[in-house]
Amino acid sequence: MRRLSWLAPMAVFALAACGGEDAGAEAEMASANPCAANPCAANPCAGMGLPVDAIRQGDRQLNDHGMSRDELAARGTELWSDQSLSGTGATSCSTCHSGDGTAMMNASFAEPYPHPVAMAMDRAGLDQVSAAEMVQLCMAIPMTAAPLDYGSVELAALTARVEQLQAGFDASQAGEMNPCAANPCAANPCAANPCAANPCAASGMNPCASNPCGADR
Ligand code: HEC
Repeated sequence: MRRLSWLAPMAVFALAACGGEDAGAEAEMASANPCAANPCAANPCAGMGLPVDAIRQGDRQLNDHGMSRDELAARGTELWSDQSLSGTGATSCSTCHSGDGTAMMNASFAEPYPHPVAMAMDRAGLDQVSAAEMVQLCMAIPMTAAPLDYGSVELAALTARVEQLQAGFDASQAGEMNPCAANPCAANPCAANPCAANPCAASGMNPCASNPCGADR
C-alpha cells in the first residue's frame, strides 16, 4: 500500500509527461524542452534576403547611454548568454562563442576593426565590417533575429564586449571556421542531452520511455 500511494503520483506525472491526451500538458512539455527549438534547424547560411541596410553602420554612432566602456562591456557579457535576443529564443552568442567568448571566431578577429570577415563578404557583400556591424551580422544570420537598433544599449554593450574580447584574443588559437562551408552548428548545442540522465530510471515507471527529446534529435 505504501508503495502504491507512492506510485500513484508517479503515474500522473507519467501521463503528464508522455501522454498524448492532454494537449495543455503537452504544450507545457514542449516549452520546457530545451531541444524543442533547435537553434541549428534554421541553417544560418541558408536563405538570401538579409536586411543589409539595417546591418550597415554608415555614419550612425552608438549610444553609450551614459555608461563607461567597462560598464558597457559588463552589460555585454550578460547579454552574451541572453537567449531572448535570438529569433528562436533558444540561441545566444555563447551558444557558438562559448568558453571565454571567442570560440568559433577566426584569425580575422585579431585585426583592428574595420576589417574583412568571410561571413560579411559571403552573406552580405560587405568588404569589411566595424565591430558593431559584426554584432549585427551575427544577430541577423546565426541568431535569426532582426538587427539591433543602432541607438540601443544592447548594441553598444555587445560591441563593447566584442572589443574587450578582441583585446585579449590570441589569433594563433583561432580555428578555420568558414561560416558557410563548415556548418557553424557542427558542434550541436543540444549534444549534451538534458534527457540523457533519465530522472525516472530508479522509479520503475519510466515516463521517459518515449523520450521527450527524441523528436528533435
Ligand atoms: C550559430 C553560431 C553563432 C552565433 C549564435 C553567433 N555567432 Fe558570431 N560568429 C559565428 C561564426 C561562424 C563566425 C565566424 C565568421 C567568419 O569568420 O566569417 C562568427 C564571428 C563572430 C565575430 C568575429 C568576427 C571577426 O571579426 O572575425 C564576432 C565579433 C561575433 N561573431 C559576434 C557575435 C555576437 C555578438 C553574437 C550574439 C549576438 C554572435 N556572434 C552569435 C557564429 C555565431
